[in-house]
This record gives sequence, C-alpha cells and structure tokens, in this order.
Amino acid sequence: MTDDAAEKPRTLVGERVPVRIGLVGCGVVGTGILQLLRDNRRAIEARLGAPIEVVAIAVRDASKARDEIVPSELVTEDALSIATHPDVDVVVEVMGGIEVAGAVVKKALEEGKHVVTANKALLAEEGDALLELAEARRVDLYFEAAVAGGIPILRVLREGLASDRIVALRGIVNGTSNYILSRMRDAGLGFATALGEAQEKGYAEADPTLDVNGGDATHKLAILATLAYGARVHPSQVHTEGIDRVSAVDMQFAERFGYVIKPLAVARPIGEGADGPRALDLRVHPALVPERSVLASIHGALNAVFVEGAMLGPCLMSGPGAGAEPTAMSVVSDIVDVGRNMLAGAHSRVPTRAFHGASLEEIPVQPIEAHRARYYLRFAVEDRAGVLARIAGVLGGFDVSIEQMVQTEDGDRKATLVMLTHEAKEGDLRMALEEIARLNYCQEPPAMLRLEDDA
Ligand SMILES: NC(=O)c1ccc[n+]([C@@H]2O[C@H](COP(=O)([O-])OP(=O)(O)OC[C@H]3O[C@@H](n4cnc5c(N)ncnc54)[C@H](OP(=O)(O)O)[C@@H]3O)[C@@H](O)[C@H]2O)c1
Repeated sequence: MTDDAAEKPRTLVGERVPVRIGLVGCGVVGTGILQLLRDNRRAIEARLGAPIEVVAIAVRDASKARDEIVPSELVTEDALSIATHPDVDVVVEVMGGIEVAGAVVKKALEEGKHVVTANKALLAEEGDALLELAEARRVDLYFEAAVAGGIPILRVLREGLASDRIVALRGIVNGTSNYILSRMRDAGLGFATALGEAQEKGYAEADPTLDVNGGDATHKLAILATLAYGARVHPSQVHTEGIDRVSAVDMQFAERFGYVIKPLAVARPIGEGADGPRALDLRVHPALVPERSVLASIHGALNAVFVEGAMLGPCLMSGPGAGAEPTAMSVVSDIVDVGRNMLAGAHSRVPTRAFHGASLEEIPVQPIEAHRARYYLRFAVEDRAGVLARIAGVLGGFDVSIEQMVQTEDGDRKATLVMLTHEAKEGDLRMALEEIARLNYCQEPPAMLRLEDDA
C-alpha cells in the first residue's frame, strides 16, 4: 500500500457494497461473531444498509480443529497480515493479549483501517496512544465489548449521556468475582470452592488471577472513567483490591448488619466546580452494599453498571458481562456502527472516548488514605476482659468511632469482634489497625472492608 492510500480511511459513501472485515482471533468470541453474522444476517444487513463479509481470519494454530462455521480457506497464522490485507476495511481484534494484538491494531490504524476490539487489557495499557493514532488517521476504533461484555454502557456514556455530568459510576464489571461472592453468600461456600465452581462452569479463566485480584475490573474502570469524566486514566492509578480477602464469615456478619458484599468498581468526581472535578475517586475492591440497593440484587455472573447523572438521576444497566453470544453481539454492533460511518463518510463523528482527544485532562486521583467511608472491621482475639475496651480505645484515638458491634465466643478462649464504624478517614483507620494488629491478644490481622452506602 502506498503512503497516500494509507492516509485515507476506508469509505463507502453512496455505495452498497459489503463492509469487509478481517478477524484477528477465532476462539470463543471470534467463533461467536461468525455464528452471529450467519444467524442475524438479514436484520444486520437491513440495519446497516450493506452486508458484512469476512475476508480473512488469523489464528495462532491453523491446524487446530474448529467449528464448521470457520471457513478454513480464509485462515492464516499471520495476524499482522490482516492489518495490511488489501480487502479488509475493518480489523476485528478478538485474540487478546497486549503485544501482538497491540502491534496488529497499531498497524491497521496506520494503514487507514477501522478497528473494533474486545481487548480491555490492551485499551487500558495502550488505549491513549492507539486512540490518538485513530483520531489522527480519522478512522474509527470501537471497543464496546471490552467493558461489561454485552451491556452497551460505553455507547450510553458516549452518546446517551453526552449532555449530562456523571455524579457517580459504580459497577460490578467482573462476572467471575460476582459469581464467587454470590455462591459464598448463597451456598455458604469457601472462596476456593466457589472459585473451582466458577472455573467448572466456564466463568473463570484457566488462570483466574486477574479476575480475583481485581486487575480485570481495574482495566475496565480505567476505560469507564475516561468516558465518564474526560480524564486520561491508567489502571495503575486505580486503588485495587481483590475478592480473595473476603471470607465466608464476613459474608455472614455483613448479612447480620443488613449488607451484601459485592465486587465493586467505583469512579466518582470529587470537588466538582465549573471547570470539572478537582480529583477522581477510583477504586476496585469488595464492598458492603445495603441489601436493598440495586447492586445487591445483581447475582451470579451478571454484570451491572449504575450511573448517576446530575440531570438524569440514577440509571442501572445490567446483563451478561461475558460469553460468546453477548460479547459477539457487542463486537458486531460496533462493526455495524463503523460500517454506517463508512457508508455515510462520517468516520470518527462520535469521539470514541466520549470527549475529543484534545480536551482530555490529567485529573489527579485521590489517594486511598483520603477516602472517607464507614467501615466493616473484624478482629479475631483472645477472649479475655479488657480486649474490647482496648481496641475501642485505639480506634477512638485515631478518630474512628464504633457505630454497631457484635461479639461471638468461638470457644477455646477465642472470640470474634465485628464492628461497623461511623464515617472515618481511611488513613486514620489504617494507622489504628496497624496499632491493633500489634496487640498481643489479636490472633490474626484485622479484616477491613469498606461500606458503599450509596450503591
Ligand atoms: N470470552 C469472553 O466472554 C470475552 C468477553 C469480553 C471480552 N473478551 C475479550 O475478547 C478477546 C478474545 O477472547 P476469547 O475468549 O475469544 O479468547 P480465546 O477463546 O482464547 O481466543 C483467542 C483467539 O486468538 C487466537 N490467537 C492467539 N494468539 C494469536 C496470535 N499470536 N496470532 C494469531 N491468533 C492468535 C487464538 O488462536 P487459536 O484458536 O489457534 O488458539 C484464538 O483463536 C480477549 O481480549 C478477551 O479479553 C472475551
């Protein structure tokens, strides 16, 4: 391809020709895309105004047995060749990972091809550079499936809420974590058993590390916060804690206080003035939400995003966050959008980060020590006189006051103290807990979880 041609985005203005796609990856999502394109062909063509045609497919191992829907004559092991393929208008990256996928997406954009991707890790790590390249080349880079699978939350933030100010965004954006915590609560399972069950059912990845340590949710929150607040957000700025620190006993105590523990991703503006927020509160961690709150009712592997607009008020979207069909639906809807833009000659009409690149800001992120909330605390202690008074004294010394408390005697001269605090500053609470952990009648490090009363 010549340099001249590379600079021109693919356009189909006034034509009724196929929108030609190249699939990079043909696993769970890629195969789902082929099936959806076959099953919904008529409706898609009627909505787009042109057919979608698959002209090339890249996989890692071409000799692998595949679903009969995969046309073997289109298959190649050279992923980068899709980015330079002369007949491909839209590169659809559904292979995952960062290095090769990033190189393919970058090359495709440089070639003036539009890109649709489901790769949240790539976007969270390299999204800024790739989106800037797409803007410079005036091509579309869409990524709806990267966040909350089938729920069209990015489109809602980008278009439906284009005139609103987002006051808060709280989501359950990792289905595996939600499934594990739901099973721990509903069936009394321990963490490891619930994780094993999630893997058996195909919810968790073979390596579930990023699911349970919060990393996957953090990638998604970084994308959501960018679209909601027009901020450049890197995942390393998000305070992240996994669900592996939640025990079945915390579930039961939370319930006694009228709460449910959920894997939350939170993005809130702090100190909002006419020039936008002074800082952002960005957190991924398990949290106690009131059992009557909307997010408490999101069970199993479902995802949900609860957005509060200054004008709109509260708005909840929930649905499947993963799986071949919901994810493929999301990817193909993006292809339809890109195809519509091609047919209208209107590439990059809607900025894919909701805000034009030049207006994106570096908004400081509030350190977790400055966070103010109510807290759940659990102490495993020796069952003897004066322990409670000593713990309450240390907390009080750091301005943390107890609102409610239960105590259980566990036999063998052991007791469990569980408390909800009044609102406190997290930095103060952390110092108090460090001091309490050093007391010789504390038998294990105190457990601490945040309450999210506005969820
Ligand atoms: N699965 C979901 O429910 C879901 C939901 C939302 C987003 N996503 C995202 O969608 C993407 C794909 O997920 P998936 O579940 O479909 O993964 P998958 O089943 O593991 O499929 C990955 C595909 O990419 C191919 N591939 C891997 N490395 C390659 C390379 N170097 N060159 C060419 N092809 C290569 C694989 O080839 P082989 O077939 O030869 O191994 C396979 O076809 C990921 O970014 C994921 O985060 C998935």
